[in-house]
Amino acid sequence: MSQPSLKENGPKHVAIIMDGNGRWAKKKGLVRSMGHERGGNQVREILRAAFDLHMDQLTLYAFSTENWKRPKAEVSFLQNLLVKFLKSETKQLNEDNVRLKVIGDTTAFNKKVQKQLEDSKEALQDNDGIVLCLALNYGSRHEILRACKNFALQAQENPGHIEELNEEIFSDYLYTKGMPEVDLLIRTAGEQRLSNYLLWQLSYAELYFVDVFWPDFTPDHLQEAAENFINRDRRFGGL
Ligand code: IPE
Ligand code: IPE
Ligand code: MG
Repeated sequence: MSQPSLKENGPKHVAIIMDGNGRWAKKKGLVRSMGHERGGNQVREILRAAFDLHMDQLTLYAFSTENWKRPKAEVSFLQNLLVKFLKSETKQLNEDNVRLKVIGDTTAFNKKVQKQLEDSKEALQDNDGIVLCLALNYGSRHEILRACKNFALQAQENPGHIEELNEEIFSDYLYTKGMPEVDLLIRTAGEQRLSNYLLWQLSYAELYFVDVFWPDFTPDHLQEAAENFINRDRRFGGL
C-alpha cells in the first residue's frame, strides 16, 4: 500500500481559531493592536501554504459574536484592519485565483467594512481556486438559532417541511450552506476550547491545538497539523 500523502489524504477544509494576538503583543511589550496587525499579515502566508498543502478551503475565525464585549477602540481597530487587509490583498488574491466567502452577520459592522466585503467578494467571484472563508461576527449559537427561525418561517407556510427535515436540509439553513465538511480544526495559543465556533460543522472534525500565538504560526506549523491529521484514525462511529 502506498504511503498516505497530503494530496490524497490531507485535510481539505481546515478551520482555524486564530488566537493569541493580544498575548503575542504583550510578550513583546507592544499594544494589543500591534498583535492584530501582525496576525493579519500572517493570514497571507498561511493561505499560500494551505494552497501548497493541497487544501481547498481555509475558514478563519476573525471576529466572534462575543468579541463585541471588547473595548470600543479594539473593535473599531479590528474593523479598520479588515478593510485595510482586503483593500491591499484583493488584487493578489485574484491573481492567486482565491475565492472569498463570509460566514456570520456582517450587517452589524460599519458601512466601510460591508462595502469592502461586497467589493472584494465581487472581484473574486469568478475564481475557482482555494476558498478563503472569513468568519465575521460569527457565533454558532446565533447561526443555529437563525437557522431554526428561518426554517420555522418556511414550515409555517408548508408544515410538510417539518416531517422532511433532516441533517442535510438543516445544513442548508446555516451560513456554511454548500461548503464541504470541516476536516480539521486548528486553534493557536494553547487554549483548548471552541469559543462558539462551528459547533454543528465540527461534529466529526479532528481537533488540533497548538501552543504558539497566531502571529507566530508559520507554514511549518500548518504542515505539521496536516501531517498529524493524516495519521489520525477517523472512524465516524464505525469500526
Ligand atoms: C485573536 O487574538 C484575535 C481575535 C479574537 C480578533 P486575541 O485578541 O484573542 O488575543 P489574546 O487571546 O487576547 O491573546
Ligand atoms: C476566539 O478567540 C475568536 C476569534 C479568534 C476571532 P477569543 O479570544 O475571542 O476566545 P476566548 O475569549 O478566549 O474564548
Ligand atoms: Mg483570544
